[in-house]
Amino acid sequence: MIIGVPKEIMHDEARVAASPEAVAKYVADGHTVLFEANAGEGAFYHDEDYREAGAEIIKSAKEIYDRSDIIIKVKEPLFNEEFGMHEIDMMHKGQYLITFIHPASPVNHDMVRKMAAQGVIGLTLDGVPRISRAQNLDALTSMSTCAGYKGILMAANDLASFFPQMFTAVGPIRPANVLVIGVGVAGLQALATARRLGAVTYAADIRPAAAEQAKSLGAKVVDTGVPEALAVGEGGYAQHLPEAELLKERERLAEVVKDMDVIFCSALVPGKIAPVVITEEMVKSMKRGSVIVDIAIDQGGNCAITPAGSREVKHGVTLEGIKNIPGMLPQSSTWMFSQNMYNLVKYLVKDEQVVLDMNDEICRSILVTQDGEIVHKGAREAMGMD
Ligand code: NAI
Repeated sequence: MIIGVPKEIMHDEARVAASPEAVAKYVADGHTVLFEANAGEGAFYHDEDYREAGAEIIKSAKEIYDRSDIIIKVKEPLFNEEFGMHEIDMMHKGQYLITFIHPASPVNHDMVRKMAAQGVIGLTLDGVPRISRAQNLDALTSMSTCAGYKGILMAANDLASFFPQMFTAVGPIRPANVLVIGVGVAGLQALATARRLGAVTYAADIRPAAAEQAKSLGAKVVDTGVPEALAVGEGGYAQHLPEAELLKERERLAEVVKDMDVIFCSALVPGKIAPVVITEEMVKSMKRGSVIVDIAIDQGGNCAITPAGSREVKHGVTLEGIKNIPGMLPQSSTWMFSQNMYNLVKYLVKDEQVVLDMNDEICRSILVTQDGEIVHKGAREAMGMD
């Protein structure tokens, strides 16, 4: 099949959907890869690397959209300023698009409608279920791993003092206290990274299984006081808590927050807005020079006063609300993303055709638009169609 890799046009997006290694694998599988010139530069991969891997380097994004059977991308389609048209308008009926679409999110509803109207078959990476056989196609997990690691490095950089304990000629320096709230994929990586940097780590999660994993990484567990029956739902996922339980959780957290140098927020219930677990009052109780990195900001944030998309100092605390953290680690995130994308394409393509088996949980969960219709359950609900 013909696989097209256009350059990402979102502002400051450094990633690209295929590494040279992935291109070589597509080519070995018999596919043709059309790669937009300079699309890998942000991740420090050059056209020469892609040419050597067997890609055809194409100057114009339009040609890629015209000729490809499958378009692979990192970010959802956007308006392309260079051509004065939306990326979806460059696509055609029956063409496949695989990317992070986030179809239930209200900002993307018009784009999803456009995709359906254009006859594009949209497959979203954020729909990949977290089941063991889908692990190697799960780009969201890969990106959370990147965000957990890089987010802690950002915190260490912002913190007004050292992370590790030190014994210096002028006296001892105590280690930083780091609290991770929401110990899923990103949170576990954050805990491991903070510990490697020498911090004393604390973890809070409403799922007992997550608390156990945190403990095995050497973290001290902060009891959120939420009963397991309320915290854990179907498939072992966290559940959205009633406001009264959240209030109790905040009270428990308030007791430890004031002693923390860094708080890393990564608490989320899939498909919901992020629970607010840190209030402005709690921020005020923290030491001057401490840091909150709130990576749940795309879903509204876990801290009530995180600035969306930027970094600000409020009440003497640096608040990081930067959204595209994996993009700040462009080579590793591109490499991981490309491996996941390659595995997904390999999973879907049989005998030179994309085969979407609706009895298969993976296919069902990623399909967004088909035959001119919006079929994604979450998107339909969010759009009031069901
Ligand atoms: P995950 O679903 O693996 O983990 C979320 C954890 O939060 C779960 O362990 C859950 O039990 C816990 N949780 C839910 N409600 C809670 C509460 N009230 N109190 C404490 N813990 C609670 O999610 P993952 O993949 O680790 O992602 C975490 C967040 O990071 C998401 O918001 C995701 O969108 C975001 N993210 C942000 C990036 C960025 O660049 N800003 C990049 C990648 C992920």
